[in-house]
Amino acid sequence: MSAAYNIAIDGPAGAGKSTIARALAQKLGFVYVDTGAMYRAMGLYFDRQGIGMDDEEGISRACGDISISIRYEDGVQRVILNGEDVSGLIRTEEVGHLASACSVYAAVRQKLLSLQRELAASTDVIMDGRDIGTCVLPNAQTKIYLTASVEVRTRRRCGELLEKGRQSDPAQIEEEIRARDYRDMNREIAPLRQAEDAVLLDSSSMTVDQVIRAIIAEALKRGLSPERIGG
Ligand code: DC
Repeated sequence: MSAAYNIAIDGPAGAGKSTIARALAQKLGFVYVDTGAMYRAMGLYFDRQGIGMDDEEGISRACGDISISIRYEDGVQRVILNGEDVSGLIRTEEVGHLASACSVYAAVRQKLLSLQRELAASTDVIMDGRDIGTCVLPNAQTKIYLTASVEVRTRRRCGELLEKGRQSDPAQIEEEIRARDYRDMNREIAPLRQAEDAVLLDSSSMTVDQVIRAIIAEALKRGLSPERIGG
């Protein structure tokens, strides 16, 4: 085989991208690359340094002090920020918002772009994020735009928080989701958008299994070897 096979999954917060991408990667023997985790690590760094998310100059300057890398342990992605494994620390709602806020800046996006492209160049990957099909991997063989209604995404988010033992106010979660959607979709650089050659999947009334099957069917149409699916 020549080039790596790349599957790009983009979509708004809470659409189920990571659940789907993780399961799909396991099924196909691909590497799952969660680009949101990289933006989260950047947001965490700026916050720890006391740099405000509206301070573009400070953020751009600090980018030079940051080293982000990815490691895999038992197939699970770990994000390393300046030598520290921050994978657990970045999984909060708050860090999600920091990530969204700092991801509007050119310096932040530029910093992560080459790392993301390098990861996909020689490896079969499923990469999820906001700009994978439109900007990071424009030549990905399969592109999916995965979305779900705001109501369904709110319900899922509240359910996830409850699983972690945390009560949440659905109205507040919905408000936060809408704010994050708005910012991610309306920023100047690499906004969240469905790529022209991406397939739209609305998971509002689909099970995880149905979404996975739909993506596999699409990938088979777009040159994925049937041998990858196994049984
Ligand atoms: O997918 P997530 O919730 O972990 O992403 C956190 C934020 O990072 C998201 O709201 C916007 C930003 N992000 C981005 O701008 N581009 C990506 N490819 C992935 C995430």
